Amino acid sequence: MDVYRQELDYSVLSCLIDIAYKVSSVVSDAIPQSAADFKSFTINLLQFAAEKLGWDPIPGESHLNAMLRGQILEVLAQFGDEETKVEARRRFNSFLNDRSTTLLPADIRKAAYTAVMQNVTSSDKSGYESLLRIFRETDLSQEKVRILGSIASSPDSSVVREALDFSLSSEVRNQDAVFVLYGISKEGRETAWLWLKEKWEFISKKLGTGFLITRFITSVASPFSSEKKADEIQEFFSTRMQPSIERTVNQTIEQVQIRAQWVKHVQQQDGLVELLRELAD
Ligand SMILES: *[C@@H]1O[C@H](CO)[C@@H](O)[C@H](O)[C@H]1NC(C)=O
Ligand SMILES: *[C@@H]1O[C@H](CO)[C@@H](O)[C@H](O)[C@H]1NC(C)=O
Repeated sequence: MDVYRQELDYSVLSCLIDIAYKVSSVVSDAIPQSAADFKSFTINLLQFAAEKLGWDPIPGESHLNAMLRGQILEVLAQFGDEETKVEARRRFNSFLNDRSTTLLPADIRKAAYTAVMQNVTSSDKSGYESLLRIFRETDLSQEKVRILGSIASSPDSSVVREALDFSLSSEVRNQDAVFVLYGISKEGRETAWLWLKEKWEFISKKLGTGFLITRFITSVASPFSSEKKADEIQEFFSTRMQPSIERTVNQTIEQVQIRAQWVKHVQQQDGLVELLRELAD
């Protein structure tokens, strides 16, 4: 990853970001004491591209660059880069005061929303409430989807729970609810699993037997990485199995088992903690 520090190509960076998310997730399960180090490493790695792209559209740039800007800012925000969070907050506040501000073009909006959600807690939900206000005001489906995709990304699991309940409310179209689930924070995954089990009857009635329900299962149950959780998922669905979800449930369990193997493998490697410590500086 280190050799890509000066990279600006969309497909390379986009792939790198994808890998960073996956590795970060496994690192935080396998060697939690190194989670912050891997995040710092990624933030440093993307610094060059982040500075080149900035926050504002560059006249004449390709639309891939515009997309890349959003993706980079989003991973920086999710990985806790304070500078990104502060700038996102500043631009978000201007947007709240004036929806036609040029400070928050559509390409970076999802990143800014995610950045804002990183600081939302049950004792300070103002960012979340502002996002719901924008959601209710807008008629644009793309804007609604952006907001839904960010509201479950708070590290506070009680806020995640609130966002999940919102996804099932009459304000959210059935086919859009899953966007909330795609954005669940690492800290919120256990809460989301408990929520899915608790609401299962309701959810399966509401969503029927099509692909929507299978996406619910995958996004909530697959981010785990232990054999114990794989068994738990198996057990829960064993009495609720239907032909329409069987293949998805099987695949989800298999994914969790593969991740469990990966975690075990990482834990058996010597010197990784020290290496990550070095890479973070
Ligand atoms: C987010 O929260 C952290 C920890 O409470 C705080 O240090 C930081 O200043 C906050 N950042 C923003 C942008 O509000
Ligand atoms: C799901 O897994 C069960 C048990 O391992 C197996 O019997 C079943 O055939 C699988 N179903 C599908 C659709 O893959």
